[in-house]
Amino acid sequence: MKLNNLNDLFIHELKDLYNAENQIMKALPLMAKEASSTDLKNAFEMHLRETEKQIERLDMVFEKLGQKATGEKCKAMEGIIKEAQDIMSENADPDVMDAALIASAQRVEHYEIAGYGTVCTFAKQLGHTEVLNLLHQTLEEEKSTDMKLTSIAESKINIKAENKGGR
Ligand SMILES: [Fe+2]
Repeated sequence: MKLNNLNDLFIHELKDLYNAENQIMKALPLMAKEASSTDLKNAFEMHLRETEKQIERLDMVFEKLGQKATGEKCKAMEGIIKEAQDIMSENADPDVMDAALIASAQRVEHYEIAGYGTVCTFAKQLGHTEVLNLLHQTLEEEKSTDMKLTSIAESKINIKAENKGGR
């Protein structure tokens, strides 16, 4: 794919996000399964349903732009998910594992916030108002997921994990 102008880069970034979202959709059920806290399990399951909607929104974006969604592999998301899988394979105390799952999930969210922030800015510059509206809804969902994870961590999980004995 040749990148001649901002629109080409915009499409490239959207394809990267599309692939990232699809990777996240596969990873979230595994993270929900690994979580012990009901709040955290619910947060992952809710975000899985949001992610499915976000993928549909991206499908609409590609349709409006007359482009195909495929063609990019998000290597960064692959790496973030690989690290999450590595930590999930550790023999950790359940509360400590929950804290680790939140740490991994927030890396995912921050990557997405950066990605959607960029495509929102590009859509605005390029005058794609309807597309901007769709992308902005997802950006706000990612931000609120991130904040919800912070709140679960700070109000419960980190405290429980801190108070484990250990050595
Ligand atoms: Fe997402």
